[in-house]
Amino acid sequence: MTAIVEMQGLRKVYRRRGRDDVVAVEGLDLDLGRPGTVHGFLGPNGSGKTTTIRCALGLIRPSAGGVRVFGVDSHTRFHEVAPRVGAIVESPKMFPNFSGRRNLTLLAELGGIEPRAVDRALETVGLAGRGEDNFGTYSLGMRQRLAIAGALLKDPDLLILDEPANGLDPAGIAEMRVLIRRIAEEGKAVVVSSHQLTEVEQICDDVTIVSNGRLIRTGSLAEIRTFAGQDRVVVTIDDRDGAIAALAEAGLPAHPRPAHGELSVDVAPERSADVTRALADRGRYLSGLRFEQASLERAFLNLTGGSLPPPPGEALAPPPGGATPLAGSGPVDLPASVGAPPPPAPTRRES
Ligand SMILES: Nc1ncnc2c1ncn2[C@@H]1O[C@H](COP(=O)(O)OP(=O)(O)OP(=O)(O)O)[C@@H](O)[C@H]1O
Ligand SMILES: [Mg+2]
Repeated sequence: MTAIVEMQGLRKVYRRRGRDDVVAVEGLDLDLGRPGTVHGFLGPNGSGKTTTIRCALGLIRPSAGGVRVFGVDSHTRFHEVAPRVGAIVESPKMFPNFSGRRNLTLLAELGGIEPRAVDRALETVGLAGRGEDNFGTYSLGMRQRLAIAGALLKDPDLLILDEPANGLDPAGIAEMRVLIRRIAEEGKAVVVSSHQLTEVEQICDDVTIVSNGRLIRTGSLAEIRTFAGQDRVVVTIDDRDGAIAALAEAGLPAHPRPAHGELSVDVAPERSADVTRALADRGRYLSGLRFEQASLERAFLNLTGGSLPPPPGEALAPPPGGATPLAGSGPVDLPASVGAPPPPAPTRRES
């Protein structure tokens, strides 16, 4: 089915008086959001996520191209679909001396929404028992959840959350994950931006990675993960070359890594005993062993060559055979096509 948010050639340049312009979004062609799913919109700080979201919500005017939400242009006609879209872009202002419930009731009144929506929203975000407490006494995690409750009041079909886990501790992040997943399971399309790839990896169905205002890759989580290679075992040993030869004899493909005395073996952690046995059988004893998981973060590093975006128009070839690990060595194995530096930027970018 068609995605809810469709961007064509979206570009946004911030003009700054007396200083160089900032190209925040370089020309995005991108679809986001399907009912009942979570779409992770991921990229490092300053990669243009918030700018893209602000364009999608009609809050700022694109410099070129545009965004359609539920089929209408978000810059000129967003009001037509606004009732179907809930969003948190910046921390919404709440009254600290009013209870959570009172804050939501005010928001509902402002939006012409029936009061019983307040109870439903408090229930959804797990604050039903704390609704009478003053907002000022809420923890950061509770504040974030109340903000989400505010965005849910109108029972939107699309919920866009910009960095909902910002500033939360691990327990708060875990709660946020459960909440986001639950909202998607109710049938809503959820788009979540984050610069913390590992934070959202566990809850996304689809993933888009951007860097320096450009699209790096978009697809299902499984597709994007193929760029992470596979789980592997990292061994520290004195005679690395000898160890690599010994492992090859045992049918275990190993590669040197940049760190002194380190090599990686392309096997799942469960097979680490095979690695130690193969080495010991050949009179070689390792001094260290750890695991490295195939993660979205590693996929990101592989796709960007660390942090460099690919030259415009250059397609990133998937690894041969889909899930086959990327060949090479080093902490991240870079596909040849992404090692090239980006073309000279026409304007300076803020970091
Ligand atoms: N109002 C503005 N005026 C000038 N430059 C801006 C403005 N807003 C954002 N930028 C710049 O645009 C670029 C993209 O910023 P944006 O906030 O969209 O990135 P982001 O991916 O949301 O980053 P973060 O993960 O830190 O939230 C950055 O270089 C930023 O400094
Ligand atoms: Mg941002």
